[in-house]
Amino acid sequence: MTETITIRRPDDWHLHLRDGAMMEAVLPYTARQFARAIVMPNLAPPVTTAAAAAAYRERILAALPEGMDFTPLMTAYLTDDTDPDDLAAGFEQGIWVAAKLYPAGATTNSASGVTDIRNIDRVVERMEKIGMPFLAHGEVTHDEVDIFDREARFIEEVAIPLLKRHEGLKFVFEHITTRDAAQFVEAGDARIAATVTPQHLQINRNAIFKGGINPHAYCLPVAKREEHRLAVRKAATGGSGKFFLGTDSAPHARSAKESACGCAGIFNAPFALEAYAEVFEEEGVLGRLEAFASLDGPRLYGMAPNEATVTLEKVETRVPGTIDGGTEPVVPYRAGGTMGWRLKA
Ligand code: NCD
Ligand code: ZN
Repeated sequence: MTETITIRRPDDWHLHLRDGAMMEAVLPYTARQFARAIVMPNLAPPVTTAAAAAAYRERILAALPEGMDFTPLMTAYLTDDTDPDDLAAGFEQGIWVAAKLYPAGATTNSASGVTDIRNIDRVVERMEKIGMPFLAHGEVTHDEVDIFDREARFIEEVAIPLLKRHEGLKFVFEHITTRDAAQFVEAGDARIAATVTPQHLQINRNAIFKGGINPHAYCLPVAKREEHRLAVRKAATGGSGKFFLGTDSAPHARSAKESACGCAGIFNAPFALEAYAEVFEEEGVLGRLEAFASLDGPRLYGMAPNEATVTLEKVETRVPGTIDGGTEPVVPYRAGGTMGWRLKA
């Protein structure tokens, strides 16, 4: 008999859906697995106002195929000029549920991001007051800091002082990649949590260079040394309740990845849940997959877990080499390989 596991329907607490034709093409992959997703605001131009977020949400819902049940949870893109009143009004009206810090220059479409965390003191103060989660792309961006050290330096330079100044702020350290971040979150109080991607559980930085440059293994924060992967894996599968599912699925057209200036981002949405199931199985804690995927995220966000369930079967599944990305193909995570699990239709 095929081994199966049934869990409450999961949510994706960190997702890039893009816009237009690409959004229409990639959205069904997320919606078939996840009931809700935190939709990242780094469009060009970024989603900085509640009105823009409401319009983006409408475009997502309009693109959702008939019969699919999926709720986009919108986020605000913080800038040096974010207006605390607009941010709070959008939160109170239920237009967006969190705000995202992109340190200026940290990643794709982050040029309008925050240039100095102290510039948004009043905004953060308001978020703390109204209980609006603060989502951090946790990397410093100074040229003199090595790219592999940027997450650890963010903890010292930004996160610790910020959380001291705002002792009630709900803080999600997005897509953690280091032992430093895992330990920091683990040691923090209940308002501090982290999302973890499939790739940071499965690949180390060798993947980017194996047999030549592999642009499809390049994302930000960049994959780190093996010891960091193991530490993140231990944290994510350890059952503390502070680490939960956030794919950071970030599709880019194949030509934009396979280029002299390849974009950062891994498109893992098509088989995300399967990839996480592999990790929990390998660690011998498949029983903890449900908390990671479906319970711990809603708790931090103050939402109820989903009532519906999904079932995964232990069946080998082929990952296609490319996927239709609307106007151009997109190469998915683990393209051409196989997954050990399959989501039952
Ligand atoms: C993301 C993207 O392409 O929007 N890229 C990535 O490598 N993860 C941005 C981000 O989350 O850093
Ligand atoms: Zn992201």
